[in-house]
Amino acid sequence: MSVPPDGYALRTHDLSKLHGERGGLVRAVDGVDLAVPVGQTLAVMGPSGCGKSTLLHLLGGLDRPTDGEVWLAGRRIDTLGERALARLRRRAIGFVFQAYHLVDELSAAENVQLPALLAGRPVRAARRRAAELLEQVGLADRARSLPARLSGGQRQRVAIARALVNEPLVVLADEPTGNLDSASTLEVLRLFEELRHAGQTLVLVTHDERVAATADRLISMRDGMFVSDTPLTRGTGRLDALLGWDG
Ligand SMILES: Nc1ncnc2c1ncn2[C@@H]1O[C@H](COP(=O)(O)OP(=O)(O)OP(=O)(O)O)[C@@H](O)[C@H]1O
Ligand SMILES: [Mg+2]
Repeated sequence: MSVPPDGYALRTHDLSKLHGERGGLVRAVDGVDLAVPVGQTLAVMGPSGCGKSTLLHLLGGLDRPTDGEVWLAGRRIDTLGERALARLRRRAIGFVFQAYHLVDELSAAENVQLPALLAGRPVRAARRRAAELLEQVGLADRARSLPARLSGGQRQRVAIARALVNEPLVVLADEPTGNLDSASTLEVLRLFEELRHAGQTLVLVTHDERVAATADRLISMRDGMFVSDTPLTRGTGRLDALLGWDG
C-alpha cells in the first residue's frame, strides 16, 4: 500500500472504548491520542486488563470506538460502513494473534494464500507470493504441511507470512509469542527484527520485554491510558544481549 499523505499509518484522537453493560461498565481505552508514522515499530505493554487488546482491535477496525477518532492509512475509519471498513482492513492491515488462527484443513501455503485470494488476487500471483513469504520466514520446506504437523513457532511464522501476503501498511500483533517456548519465541523475534529493518509498520502488544525490545518505541498502558511513551535506543548491543544473540 502507498504511504498516506500525512505520513502516518495510524492516528487516534481522544479514543475511548467502554465495554460491558449498565452497572458494569469498564473504560477499557480512555482518551488515547496516538500517532504511528509509516515505518515505525511500536510495542505496547501493560498489566492484564489495561486495554491493550481493545486498543489493537480499535486500531485495526475490528471493534468500534465509543468516542474519538481512528485514522488508518490517512482515512478516518470509525465512521466507515462495514463493507468499506472490511475492504480497507483487508488491504491495509495484517493481523497476528496469540493463538495463530490458522485454518486446520489448509496447508501452510494455502493458509498464506487465503487472504490474497479473498482480496481478489489471481491464483497464480497468490501462490507465488505465498511461496516467497514462506521462504522469507524459513518455512519453504513446510509449504505442504498442515498446521497440526508444525511446531508453535512454525505456526506463528506461517501466521506472520499470512499477515504480510497483501502487503499491508500495518501489521498488528497481539501477544504473538504468548503461546511459544523460548526457542520458538526467538524464531519469531528474529522475524520481527527483519520486518523492522525492512521498514514494516508494526504494532506489537506483548508481556515479553524481549519482544518489546525489537521495537523502535515503547508505550506503557494502565487503566486504558498511556502512562509512558519512550523511544528505544539502538546500536548499543542491548537488544542483542536481551535476545541472547552473539552476532
Ligand atoms: N467484550 C468485552 N466485554 C466486556 N468487557 C470487556 C470486553 N473485552 C474486554 N473487556 C474488559 O476491558 C478491559 C480491557 O481488556 P483488554 O482485553 O483490552 O485488556 P488487555 O490489556 O489486552 O489484557 P490481557 O493482557 O489480559 O490480554 C478489561 O477490564 C476487560 O475485562
Ligand atoms: Mg489482551
